[in-house]
Order: sequence, then structure tokens, then C-alpha cells
Amino acid sequence: MTPMVAANWKMYKGEPEAVAWTEEVCQHLVPGVQAVVFPPATALTAVRQAAAGRPLALGGQNAFYEPEGAYTGEISPQMLWAAGCRYVLVGHSERRYIFGETDREVALRLRAVLSTELTPMLCVGEQIEDYDRGDYHGAIQRQMGVALKGLEAEEVSRLIVAYEPVWAIGTGRAATVVEAERAADIIRQVIRRLYGSDLEVPIVYGGSVVAENVRSFVEVAHLDGVLVGSGSLDAGAFRALVAEVSGARAP
Ligand code: PGA
Repeated sequence: MTPMVAANWKMYKGEPEAVAWTEEVCQHLVPGVQAVVFPPATALTAVRQAAAGRPLALGGQNAFYEPEGAYTGEISPQMLWAAGCRYVLVGHSERRYIFGETDREVALRLRAVLSTELTPMLCVGEQIEDYDRGDYHGAIQRQMGVALKGLEAEEVSRLIVAYEPVWAIGTGRAATVVEAERAADIIRQVIRRLYGSDLEVPIVYGGSVVAENVRSFVEVAHLDGVLVGSGSLDAGAFRALVAEVSGARAP
């Protein structure tokens, strides 16, 4: 897969800031890196218009598991697709631990996304308590197992998995190469156990990624990209990430 640099804006940026970021970033995109942005839903249309004709893909930050209905505050995968999204985050740790989305609910959302042409980015990762106990694999295995339950190999082949240790998100303390590789191995093992060794799924890393450490994930740990929150909000910082990843993968 072309290495991905994805910006998760979370609940930041109204339309003017979103458009300014998009215009600046679009002038500096380089071949060989897939740039993706996950704006808040209110800025999706403005970003789509500002990025028209440029290779910046659009994503939604979450999607509900019904196509439409009386679900105040929710957005369906079909609506995201119609708004121009091609990717969607599923099970981000802020959804799990602030908004109480359970593993089961994440699985329902994932299934609904897979019924459309959107590419889901399934987020998994252990919390600080697990990490401190040395149990980095239990949470990942459980989250992966529940999310994939009952999915066909063809559906799983359309997934991207984001390893995002909760203790690394927004803390300035990124995982080390060894930790990221170890988690990627667990993710691969779960998929191999359920679907056989032929099925390979792209794995990206997220959690305090900045230009200074991004190469360790795409070059040293050989992951397929990064998902960046706070380090993506400034257009210049995001451009620097794209430039680093492009350099890391240059032939
Ligand atoms: P962070 O967030 O880059 O601010 O750590 C990453 C994420 O939540 O996807």
C-alpha cells in the first residue's frame, strides 16, 4: 500500500480554518504518499470543495450502524460516502472511552461501513493500565476478535487497522519502534489465525506522531502509515509529515 499520512482533526476547525489548511496542504502533496483528512462533519463539504481535483482523500470520524433513521446526532456510512468520504474511523479510543462505545458496538459500526464502499480504519490499542501491567496484547486481541467476528475474508481484506495505544494519544509520548512492531505482530497473528496467512491488512500507527518520529514507524517498523491528531492541525506540520514519509519511502 502507498504509505498513508492521515490527519484526525477531532473536534477542531470550523470552515475557514479547514479551507485554509486544505489549500495549503494541497499545494504541497507529493506522489507516493496517500494523504487523508478526517475533519469534523461540519467541515466535510468545505474540505471536499477546497481539495477538488487534488489527491487529498476525505474521511469521516465515525459512522453509525444504520443507513438512516431517528438517531439524533449520528451519521451513516452512506451519508459519509455521499459527502465525498472514502475512509472512516471506527472504534477510535475517544469513542470507546469518552463516549462508551463497546467492542460490540464498534463491531456493528464496522459491519455497516463494510456494507458500503468506504474503507474503514479500525482503531485498536491498550490503555495505560494494561500497558503498566505489561499486558499490551490482551486488549488488542479482544478488540480485534470482537470486531472481526463473523466477517468474511473479503470484508477483512478491505480494512486498515490503526494501532493507537491510548497512553500515547495526545500525551507527547509515542510508542517505540519495538512496541509498534510488537502490536503489529499481534494484529497480524489475529488475522492469520482467523483467515489464514494469505490475508494481509495494512497497519498504521497513531499516538503522538510528529515529523521527528514519523520515520521510525514507516521506515524502521515498516508500517503502512500514520494517523495523526494534534500533530496534524497545523498545515505546515502536516506538510512536514508528508515530506518525511515521502523521503522514507523514496527508492
Ligand atoms: P495524537 O492523536 O496524534 O494527538 O496523539 C492521534 C489520534 O487520536 O488519532
